[in-house]
Amino acid sequence: NSGVPDAKNLRVKLVLLGDSGVGKSCIVLRFVRGKFDPTSKVTIGASFLSQTIALQDSTTVKFEIWDTAGQERYAALAPLYYRGAGVAVIVYDITSPESFTKAQYWVKELQKHGSPDIVMALVGNKADLHENREVPVQDGIDYAEKNGMFFIETSAKTADNINQLFEEIAKRLP
Ligand code: GTP
Ligand code: MG
Repeated sequence: NSGVPDAKNLRVKLVLLGDSGVGKSCIVLRFVRGKFDPTSKVTIGASFLSQTIALQDSTTVKFEIWDTAGQERYAALAPLYYRGAGVAVIVYDITSPESFTKAQYWVKELQKHGSPDIVMALVGNKADLHENREVPVQDGIDYAEKNGMFFIETSAKTADNINQLFEEIAKRLP
């Protein structure tokens, strides 16, 4: 991107948090490899992947992604992954009110213990399952707005809004 005066190369640590089964690993797989795995296995501990995107002004952003394990037995490990993160993506499943409650728990935890300037996104995943929706889109919008977060509904299955999620995060980086 030489010759573009405003072009920058940014690098940011991003952590995904949320209940087991909400689709964190599928979101990452879709974003990084363009694939969907209907038989995705639960994550053990955490996994790491990176992906670089280019914005319209030729700025590039390299996301260093920590995909955490949502099962309760791994909850104590979370601080290892969100410590020092510039971005937290907190995911719930629009068919699961319990997962929305859990997302709110993670938001509070990050407000208490995350970096003060962390960029937070709230993601309602599995938007393709709208016939089984149990979390109204307005609930997500309202909660995110109250907490100064970016909000989006996605589907890792259909790819709907997956790239948009990461592009919108990139635009909000300090
Ligand atoms: P943990 O690793 O245990 O924290 O779970 P996770 O949040 O990583 O969930 P994962 O990505 O493994 O997905 C769990 C299940 O949901 C899998 O069977 C996926 O195929 C399914 N799934 C994920 N995203 C979507 C989606 O957008 N739509 C639909 N219909 N199913 C999805
Ligand atoms: Mg996983």
